[in-house]
Amino acid sequence: MRVSVFGLGYVGCVSAACLASMGHEVIGVDVNQVKVDLVNDGKAPVVEERIGELIAEVVHSGALRATDDVHEAIMGSEVSLVCVGTPSEPNGSLCTTYLERVTEQIGAALAERNKHSGHSERHTVVFRSTMLPGTCLNLLVPILEKSIGGTAGVDFGVAVNPEFLREGTSVQDFFDPPKTVIGELDPPSGDAVLALYDGVPSEVFRVPLPTAEAIKYADNAFHGLKIGFANELGAVCHALGVDSHQVMDVFLADRKLNISPAYLRPGFAFGGSCLPKDLRSLVYAAQRADVSVPILAHVLPSNSAHLKRAVELVERTGKRRVGLFGLSFKPGTDDLRESPLVELAERLFGKGYDLRIHDANVSLSRLLGANRDYIETRLPHLAHLLADSIDKVLEHAEVCLVGTRDPAVLAALPHGDGPVLIDLIHLPDAEARRTEPGYIGLAW
Ligand SMILES: NC(=O)c1ccc[n+]([C@@H]2O[C@H](COP(=O)([O-])OP(=O)(O)OC[C@H]3O[C@@H](n4cnc5c(N)ncnc54)[C@H](O)[C@@H]3O)[C@@H](O)[C@H]2O)c1
Repeated sequence: MRVSVFGLGYVGCVSAACLASMGHEVIGVDVNQVKVDLVNDGKAPVVEERIGELIAEVVHSGALRATDDVHEAIMGSEVSLVCVGTPSEPNGSLCTTYLERVTEQIGAALAERNKHSGHSERHTVVFRSTMLPGTCLNLLVPILEKSIGGTAGVDFGVAVNPEFLREGTSVQDFFDPPKTVIGELDPPSGDAVLALYDGVPSEVFRVPLPTAEAIKYADNAFHGLKIGFANELGAVCHALGVDSHQVMDVFLADRKLNISPAYLRPGFAFGGSCLPKDLRSLVYAAQRADVSVPILAHVLPSNSAHLKRAVELVERTGKRRVGLFGLSFKPGTDDLRESPLVELAERLFGKGYDLRIHDANVSLSRLLGANRDYIETRLPHLAHLLADSIDKVLEHAEVCLVGTRDPAVLAALPHGDGPVLIDLIHLPDAEARRTEPGYIGLAW
């Protein structure tokens, strides 16, 4: 394919050189003349393993050249890869100035091309820069449509193709990426990106534009979180006289609960007799040892914030008669200690909502020992709130919170013709319900 790469920084330079080495005909564009000259001299404008040799090779073979002339690049290409920087503004917001400018330039060049040469070949603009979800559709597509004078997805293609390379190993990462994500406005836009990576061995995910933008943020936020977690844990272990690397060796060996998809789906708040208590005491021990652990210290506040979102969803419906399915801290148990659903019920009850609760695993007769004490101190009116059947809750409620996967409850839930449903756990049929009236997902 004939490809223009806009921005010859780390991402653009590596993408341009690697695509050229795969047999594409590549033109790199940068506003910085020094970078353009360096590339044309067969030298890399960035310091990276293997990039020097690769640029020398592809420039020598004629597969890569550079220019500062946007028109020249657009005239000779069917795909544009946008790799300009998106730095932070001083207040933390994302700077989209370079993106907007380059998009205007590409649009103007495409308009010119269409006018003068009667080009009928559809050009696809592919954004590799990291940008917040919605930036492409709401900011960049309108710029392209205005400057080209056509419709995105009809007259030209638009895609988002985030980059997952790591500086230092970026050439290696380009040829062996963890995944290929293609955000596509329409299937032909995605096909154009797919053709670029023909021969690159990785799983391909074709998703809507904002999903592709968000995936990059999910990755980077998680990577930062992982490093912060490991470092905080290391510091606590050190203060407590424990070998943190030995701890992490064992931690990492657990592929069922630790290094696994477990606990990584948006759902309801956590609770139970262990997580809150153990986080509290670990943070307390760290603080006593003068070890600052802001990530660990904010896990419980984060959990409370999530619970509050559920209360706010009920408040926003404006309804007063509320049903709650599920009460124990997770399915298949009657353990109510520090159950987030008990906390939710207590908050709603405290706000004067007329509440009915059903949980098949929890019945007053089975509330023995620790659980009975817990209920009596935390929810003394539980007996009046508990309904012994699903139907009684559904008959009572104008708005119903679903916090259990009990099959009997799932089977009884109405489809748009009963109370408003607030789904706390991402029901198995959540995707289908999304379009039903009266369905509200907690965070999806
Ligand atoms: N560096 C990384 O490891 C990495 C990894 C994945 C994603 N990203 C993302 O990729 C994007 C690019 O990152 P980078 O590190 O390569 O940035 P960079 O700052 O190294 O390079 C950006 C280049 O774009 C050029 N430029 C700016 N405006 C231009 C225009 N109108 N026309 C042509 N060129 C223009 C600049 O002169 C510069 O050379 C950012 O959104 C970044 O967040 C970076």
